[in-house]
Amino acid sequence: MNSIRDIVSTIIYDIKNRLNTKKTRQKYKKSGKINPIADYFYNNNGKIIEKWDHYLDIYQSHFEKFYNEPIILMEFGVFNGGSLDMWKYYFGDDTKIIGIDINIECKKFNSKNCEIHIGDQENRDFLKKLMANVKKIDVVVEDGGHEMNQQINTFEEVFPYVNGGVFLIEDLHTSYWREYGGGYKKEGTFIEYAKNIIDSVNARHCDELKVNYYTKTIKSMSIYDSVIVFEKNDDNIIEKEINEEYYFKLSKKYLDKLNKPKKILIFNIDKEKLNTMRNYFKDEVMIFGVSHDMELKKLQNNETKIYIYNNEDEEFLNNLINKLGDVDVIIDNSFEVNEQVKNFKNFFQSVKEKGLYITNNSHSSYLKEYGGGYKKEGTFIEYIKDLIDQINAYHSKTEELKVDNYTKTIKAIHIQDSLTIFEKDKSEKKTVIVSGNYFKRYLDFNLNFR
Ligand SMILES: C[S@@+](CC[C@H](N)C(=O)[O-])C[C@H]1O[C@@H](n2cnc3c(N)ncnc32)[C@H](O)[C@@H]1O
Repeated sequence: MNSIRDIVSTIIYDIKNRLNTKKTRQKYKKSGKINPIADYFYNNNGKIIEKWDHYLDIYQSHFEKFYNEPIILMEFGVFNGGSLDMWKYYFGDDTKIIGIDINIECKKFNSKNCEIHIGDQENRDFLKKLMANVKKIDVVVEDGGHEMNQQINTFEEVFPYVNGGVFLIEDLHTSYWREYGGGYKKEGTFIEYAKNIIDSVNARHCDELKVNYYTKTIKSMSIYDSVIVFEKNDDNIIEKEINEEYYFKLSKKYLDKLNKPKKILIFNIDKEKLNTMRNYFKDEVMIFGVSHDMELKKLQNNETKIYIYNNEDEEFLNNLINKLGDVDVIIDNSFEVNEQVKNFKNFFQSVKEKGLYITNNSHSSYLKEYGGGYKKEGTFIEYIKDLIDQINAYHSKTEELKVDNYTKTIKAIHIQDSLTIFEKDKSEKKTVIVSGNYFKRYLDFNLNFR
């Protein structure tokens, strides 16, 4: 039974979140975006759902390929059953939903095409038995207890059953909260665990690491504030050749989202890279290429400007960027780890809002000839690992991790073998938004959810 104090504090919490929701709903309406998940969320008058405001966009961008498809979806954390209804709406009535919760009360949400299993997601025996009956899944949403071992055990036991699909884990800011077992850079948190998976994704370039299941199966890891989305390859074959075609294939999906780009800047440009970008953008953009190789000057034309410089000229790149102003995309094609870090630090700020910063060759962080090495300080990959903490810094409870310009401007880091793509966008402090009919909750005194 809840005390009057619980009820009052919950009502205040709800009012605050309702007001937040009103604001984000208006913003969504104004944006003109098409997102059926957001439409459902903002119009839902049924079971309660609570999410952080930026999750709705993340769901849409990673689940879109399954929209209205009869998939198999597994969700850890059922609570009021609100998100189960949302998935049913989004993926369609023929989708099979498997919900898992430790709370026996959730059994009541068992229905046609929606199985509820009761158990503790930290318990590997429970998970093994569960998965023995499930076999293959397309989408996993991990929104259970949010404690470190719950998250890690669930990922390890369930990820192998994801069939060329998506494993999305949310509320990862608990990795920074002591009450959930978290702590900044603390060993054993899910965020630190995920940083090690970045090494596994690139393992075939590293003498000190063995290729493992994650090397073979992870296509990409998309890292957002509080959320990581793992996308799987359709098969277990590792891409053999890291070449221009490979980079373009993986970058295209992000390039396609750009809104009328005008200026592209490429560090360490070569003929192949210029050709791919020119074929993709046609004559609609100016391409600015930077190289040490005098020969490349020949490639210059009305839409392509090539700048030649030598490393001793420290001010060259700064002067260039001052001259060019903000650009839509920067592609860093260099190999030296120092150069990759230096370029990012100096030029990320020159990318426009909603633009991209792409570092090809990020596997050189593991190659000795370019200054790399496994977990070696100063490599680009180690630098990215610090940026992951920065993008979660709004949730920090320690002075050691503070909000900075990267927290405010990096929307996502997409990690693939040898390729890192940053999506730049305004990233404000996130708010909780709510959906559904709250009166029933008060009538039931069902307030124990935070
Ligand atoms: C945040 S709520 C889920 C909300 C739901 N996904 C939604 O969006 O409407 C978290 C749920 O995880 C469940 N949970 C907590 N610890 C768990 C554990 N160890 N194993 C399984 N479920 C757990 C809680 O009972 C609670 O219902």
